[in-house]
Amino acid sequence: MSRIIVYPGSFDPITNGHLNLVERALHIFDHIIIAVARNLSKTPLFTIEERVAMIRSGLQDNPRVTVESFEGLLIEYLNSKNANVILRGLRQLSDFDYEFQMTFMNRRLKRDVETIFMMTGYKWFYVNSRIIKEVVFAGGSVEGLVPEIARRKLQEKYQERKGKL
Ligand code: PNS
Repeated sequence: MSRIIVYPGSFDPITNGHLNLVERALHIFDHIIIAVARNLSKTPLFTIEERVAMIRSGLQDNPRVTVESFEGLLIEYLNSKNANVILRGLRQLSDFDYEFQMTFMNRRLKRDVETIFMMTGYKWFYVNSRIIKEVVFAGGSVEGLVPEIARRKLQEKYQERKGKL
């Protein structure tokens, strides 16, 4: 039986921390589905198509990883994939509250779902999509912290925004 895990998130944009998690999870699972949320409650910087394309490019076409978008409940998406394991990354303690709530809510919505947490690699401990965007929009460099395509796309957004000011 092939072991499938779904790694959901906003990925706005993907970071090297996310990629590190995928690489390590592939040592345990046969296949990872990266599920990019359309996220009605957040206003993402990148469109869903841009986020999916950046992830695909960052992964360099690994056949054991599928990248898709989803809308609505994560649990419904899991059902459509016949999957019942969710992967989430943990950095510091501050992530825990939110993850704790999501895990229990998802379990309430689907009894047999399990969420597996992996600690982010120590090099990426302080990296998340929010802080990456903050640095770029303040004119800083995020080279080496995100895949090259994401760095370029972030720069484009920064230039666009500067042009509008
Ligand atoms: O990268 P993020 O923003 O921390 O990911 C959060 C995400 C997308 C996993 C979460 O918001 C989610 O699962 N959204 C889909 C809607 C849903 O199922 N919500 C109930 C889970 S508590």
